[in-house]
Amino acid sequence: MARNGYSFFVRDMAIDLGTANSLVYVTRRGVVMFEPSVVAIDEVSGEVLAVGNEAKQMIGRTPGAIRAVRPLKQGVIANFEMTKHLLRYLIRRGCRGRALVRPRVIVSVPADVTEVERRAVIDATIEAGARAAFLIEEPVAAAIGVGLPVQEPTGSMVVDVGGGMTNAAVISLGGIVSGCSVRVGGDDMDEAIVRHVRRNYNLMIGERTAEDVKIGIGSVWPLQEELSMEVRGRDYVTGLPKSITLTSQEVREALAEPMASIAAGVRSTLENTPPELIGDVIDKEIVITGGGALLRGIDRYISKETGMPVRCADNPLMSVVMGAGRALEEIDLLERVANASRRAR
Ligand SMILES: Nc1ncnc2c1ncn2[C@@H]1O[C@H](COP(=O)(O)OP(=O)(O)OP(=O)(O)O)[C@@H](O)[C@H]1O
Ligand SMILES: [Mg+2]
Repeated sequence: MARNGYSFFVRDMAIDLGTANSLVYVTRRGVVMFEPSVVAIDEVSGEVLAVGNEAKQMIGRTPGAIRAVRPLKQGVIANFEMTKHLLRYLIRRGCRGRALVRPRVIVSVPADVTEVERRAVIDATIEAGARAAFLIEEPVAAAIGVGLPVQEPTGSMVVDVGGGMTNAAVISLGGIVSGCSVRVGGDDMDEAIVRHVRRNYNLMIGERTAEDVKIGIGSVWPLQEELSMEVRGRDYVTGLPKSITLTSQEVREALAEPMASIAAGVRSTLENTPPELIGDVIDKEIVITGGGALLRGIDRYISKETGMPVRCADNPLMSVVMGAGRALEEIDLLERVANASRRAR
């Protein structure tokens, strides 16, 4: 009886701790949070002023003493203390303050993280309030999240194009057979747009404006109807505000460089995949996840670069957390089965 009451209150959670966004999945409830990975602090007192959505609003707009930081860079922890604040916020809000016992938390990490980086994620999660912390590799979580048969002896390929990095992997029997992590993602696309506008128009724009351009008119394959967008910034020469009109063709040119790095990572993964598994991947298509999957034409671009069939996940921003959540439900299931058999004995 006590055990039932106990399990009712314990909500375990899966966290996709991303460079751009962090998501929380709670057992038996599903995805409950989706917030930018940003922490705002008062530099004088060191006090945390806001986390998540509220903190993102402050980026680039804060008065002197307030600093909005992104604690993760290129998929890994860049600022341990700030990551802890972010995790504490996610865990507390995820529990809605109702947990009587601290939750077990499974966190997704890039496939190629070092032992030190893995340890840092585990320590930060425990210090942020988890009773136990487990890690799951992002490509495995992404593949589970999009419903690929990862446990079977057949090759499934996912390419997760996130904010800070791209993870490509072929998975079979629950593990990564071949993979490649490239430190290039959506942030680099934003930077490429900033550079393009500086070089061609002498105009200074912020990264948030560049992201708006990428989402608004960005593409990596010719569009049936090309798009355009007005962009405002500051003229480098006069120092005054100026507005220009950008077209989807020129944004596509600006994105060529980061896209070439992403394509090279995908090709290298395929080159290191045993031939038997390549056949499976062709049958099932390469699946693109992460925010980059929303970039217009990315499926056709990757298909052209690899000669393989490609499709984008339906809900690409949630693939990793959904997969990590499903893995978590299974841990739960396994534990319940173990408990039941213990009671039966
Ligand atoms: N419609 C869109 N078109 C192009 N890019 C988009 C779109 N929507 C979101 N993005 C980009 O997707 C990225 C965020 O994706 P995601 O949430 O998968 O990253 P993340 O998991 O936080 O990062 P990482 O996995 O690298 O740690 C951002 O760079 C964002 O600008
Ligand atoms: Mg991610």
